Amino acid sequence: MGYADLHQRSVTDPNGFWMEQAQAIDWMRPPSKALFDEAAPLYEWFSDGMVNTCWNAVDRHVKAGRGDQTAIIYDSPITDTKRKITYAELQGRVARLAGALRAKGVAKGDRVIIYMPMIPEALDAMLACARLGAVHSVVFGGFAAHELAVRIDDATPKAIIAASCGMEPGRVVHYKPLLDSAIEQAQHKPEFCVIFQREQESAALIPGRDLDWNACQDGVEPADCVPVEGNHPAYILYTSGTTGQPKGVIRPTAGHLVALQWTMKNIYDVNPGEVFWAASDVGWVVGHSYICYAPLIAGNTTIVFEGKPVGTPDAGTFWRVISEHKVKSFFTAPTAFRAVKREDPKGEFVTKYDLSCLKTVYLAGERADSDTIVWAQDQLKVPVIDHWWQTETGWAIAANPMGVEPLSVKLGSPAVGMPGYNIQVLDEGGHPVSPGTLGAIALKLPLPPGTLPNLWNAEARFRNSYLEQFPGYYATGDAGYMDDDGYVYIMARTDDVINVAGHRLSTGAMEEVLASHPDVAECAVIGVADDLKGQMPLGFLCLNKGTERAPEDVVKECVKLVRDQIGPVAAFKLAVVVDRLPKTRSGKILRGTMVNIADSQPFKMPATIDDPAILDEIRDALRGLGYARD
Ligand code: COA
Ligand code: AMP
Repeated sequence: MGYADLHQRSVTDPNGFWMEQAQAIDWMRPPSKALFDEAAPLYEWFSDGMVNTCWNAVDRHVKAGRGDQTAIIYDSPITDTKRKITYAELQGRVARLAGALRAKGVAKGDRVIIYMPMIPEALDAMLACARLGAVHSVVFGGFAAHELAVRIDDATPKAIIAASCGMEPGRVVHYKPLLDSAIEQAQHKPEFCVIFQREQESAALIPGRDLDWNACQDGVEPADCVPVEGNHPAYILYTSGTTGQPKGVIRPTAGHLVALQWTMKNIYDVNPGEVFWAASDVGWVVGHSYICYAPLIAGNTTIVFEGKPVGTPDAGTFWRVISEHKVKSFFTAPTAFRAVKREDPKGEFVTKYDLSCLKTVYLAGERADSDTIVWAQDQLKVPVIDHWWQTETGWAIAANPMGVEPLSVKLGSPAVGMPGYNIQVLDEGGHPVSPGTLGAIALKLPLPPGTLPNLWNAEARFRNSYLEQFPGYYATGDAGYMDDDGYVYIMARTDDVINVAGHRLSTGAMEEVLASHPDVAECAVIGVADDLKGQMPLGFLCLNKGTERAPEDVVKECVKLVRDQIGPVAAFKLAVVVDRLPKTRSGKILRGTMVNIADSQPFKMPATIDDPAILDEIRDALRGLGYARD
């Protein structure tokens, strides 16, 4: 079946289509139907099936006689380590860790926070939770203690699994003190922590609370896979919204299994036994879906890469890993290619490696600019596929389904809707607009399997954030247009979310931190265009009347405050003191206009602006930082 028929069937006969795909999964009790729409507009998939994610990702491959196949390749240029783990070894590791967690009381439905760097033990921890039906929540290592504390209070975990440290180029990230500080700041206290001591740093353990990763597994009975209902939460992943309180996206177990299994062959064109590499981090949704779960569910080999696109040791690292481990499909963020291109514009490193194994490259996480795509195509001589998705969906909304039928590539577009995604572009009143017209991008309900059924402990916020703006649709928060062939073009966010080096960040959260500085009376944070990272946050600070503090000191303290409260990943380094902020007469800050000025884009003077002269002051302040050039 070609793409068009397949997509058509997925939206007209969702039950038939997804029940067929569900046959690729091992069920302990098969579901009676696919779609459960009784509580619409809240939908669930495969709710009455019984299933286990770890069984499907690990044990079933061993049972099928593929235990000796490599499941995970760990390649860490930062620590100069390479290691391979077979499916049989992975089964033993995960069953033992799950046994240790169970012996300490972790059971189905308990939450477990995982705070780990890019090491295979991070996957062990995720899979051990899945084995028990415990709900993991992985927190990215680049977040500060405060962000970890916010997630501890929201998820109320029974246990936290962490490593002693992470390794960034030129510095050791001391995870354990960050963890201790987060637990101190949080209202909720976990019953225990399991700490994986890395060779690079041994952390001090707190007696009675902290257990050593190896010691706690000594002599315990390995755990078997616990069947869970199809709608049981597999994990919670926090992502940025418009406020400092992150949204806890719930991933449902069975839909996740069925959808991810479908994607590996049909989007990424990899078969069991072939090597797939997503150069992301387990702390992000790409890492959940395409470093850990999908490649393992589909019986591929996955790569855990602890390094950066450049500087570990050079701009040839990607090509070295691809060639050495025979990667067939490679997935990264456009910003990573921009970093490589900046250091090696002519692709001299590319020619040093045999890349004949590589068939396709996939990009996601931010808008892929045409220059970067064309550069990658020229260097690598394979199709470079942009695809669009979100933490909320867990897999691609729009893509070019290379394993179904390679469609023509249109630069600037992540191509067409994947099965079950009915993409529409709407005007402010919720009416579909004609091709080529900009609008809000919405998805007609129901969303396909694997997508979020709700937010953790926040149903009202779920309805309000996604379902109420356009009744009958899920509002993606992205704006763009569609062409006559149904290709979608993602142009911008409609909310206060910015995208910095493929990392999704909330300007609202940064404003909350800046506002807590004692000398700051008012502030605004915007995302300005950046050649490398796509966007960078930039803060405007109005100081309290009569303060005698030097503006540059307050700026320095604010930069430090955001790093300490949100984390280095926020990359908040630019801020400027101004007298006033441009506002509408009703007091709304004109952030969009400030973005246009910073990026030297033409704009219409907002009709409701209170005092247009303020824009000149803003322009001057931005020029001082090297922005707003004519
Ligand atoms: N733990 C602790 N700190 C981390 C971290 C982690 N896991 N990941 C990043 N950081 C820190 C970095 O050390 C850096 O700190 P610094 O301000 O002290 O230098 C800061 O967070 C910003 O990091 P990053 O965004 O990685 O920027 P960079 O300048 O170090 O590197 C790129 C630039 C483009 C090479 C890098 O951003 C990159 O590889 N991006 C790809 C992102 C990606 O794959 N995203 C997944 C979406 S699909
Ligand atoms: P995240 O939830 O971190 O994956 O971020 C999701 C957001 O990143 C989307 O809502 C988009 O704004 C942006 N994004 C992801 N992939 C793409 C893409 N291929 N093109 C344009 N924007 C993208």
